[in-house]
Amino acid sequence: MTGSFTIGLSALIEYEAKPASQSPKSKKVAAVTECVTPDQWRVTPEFSLSAPSQLLSLRDLSVAFNAGKAGEHRVLNQVSLDIAPGEVVGLVGESGSGKTVLSHTILGLLPRNGNVTSGSIEFGGRNLLQLPESSLRKIRGKEIAMIFQDPQASLNPVYPVGRQMEWILKLHRGIVAAEAKAEVLSLFESVKLRDPERCIRAYPHELSGGMCQRVMIAMALAGRPRLLIADEPTSALDVSVAVEIVKLLSRLSKELGLSILIITHDLNVAARLSDRLAVFDQGRAVEVLPSKHFLSRAQHPSSRILIEASQFLGSASNLDQADKPAPLV
Ligand SMILES: Nc1ncnc2c1ncn2[C@@H]1O[C@H](COP(=O)(O)OP(=O)(O)OP(=O)(O)O)[C@@H](O)[C@H]1O
Ligand SMILES: [Mg+2]
Repeated sequence: MTGSFTIGLSALIEYEAKPASQSPKSKKVAAVTECVTPDQWRVTPEFSLSAPSQLLSLRDLSVAFNAGKAGEHRVLNQVSLDIAPGEVVGLVGESGSGKTVLSHTILGLLPRNGNVTSGSIEFGGRNLLQLPESSLRKIRGKEIAMIFQDPQASLNPVYPVGRQMEWILKLHRGIVAAEAKAEVLSLFESVKLRDPERCIRAYPHELSGGMCQRVMIAMALAGRPRLLIADEPTSALDVSVAVEIVKLLSRLSKELGLSILIITHDLNVAARLSDRLAVFDQGRAVEVLPSKHFLSRAQHPSSRILIEASQFLGSASNLDQADKPAPLV
């Protein structure tokens, strides 16, 4: 990815301009066929031979909610999507299209009235849909971590964030006492939290939204996950802070070889961060393309609407603040 970042259409244009040979990652992505519908989107036989096996494979995944007398409300409709080790996939789509339900389904967190009606979720070679809750609990938070839209609400308000980090380290890695404190410090430093010693003692309300999101990312990393699902991780943050969080996720993906599924309304955030973009519409992945070709090759009407909206927002608002120096987050 290029060094500068301007929220707006330029984020997409930068992708278009980048030669595919710049990084091994982009070579890998360029090898994927650039078909435009989920049914057509398949890995070429040539690519299959050399590609690492997928970390996450969703196949024909359908989910419905029981809506009482109104019957069954189908929310996901035969979704197929892969995420390779170290790959970042952006999931974009209008509100209500099923993005959050998809993430909850992967984590086995559907509410009681939600059911998987068909398909499979393979993660690291295991079909998560066939695992008992006790096994899922070991995967959730540890192998697959999640960060949410509202970081402040996701943290427990009555305990210092350092203490909450220590619980996670004990739960997922059995680390306690002095070793835990050192690991918390190291994780806080890895997410570039300023004054990590103070942050350890701070309560969530004493930290800014950006700082809380960094704490949430540190918590997500504490279990050394292989996949991070980020559901609207920047939408509760102001633009300049959001840019810093996007940069942080991008760096962590590269440094740790972390796969990320980033869910967002914001095509520019997704394009900036992802190797591939999947467009969701009414519970279907209607188009999956390498991010760098998205602007020129996206054909589905939902994709074009997203592109037009991002162009409008990019020009209509003063979002180029994003290139200004890093804020105190
Ligand atoms: N517990 C539930 N019971 C019934 N329907 C639900 C439930 N949870 C979600 N839905 C429905 O599933 C659909 C998809 O919702 P979802 O929250 O996944 O959308 P989304 O794409 O994440 O939207 P947003 O961008 O606004 O977050 C919506 O029609 C929603 O009403
Ligand atoms: Mg959602």
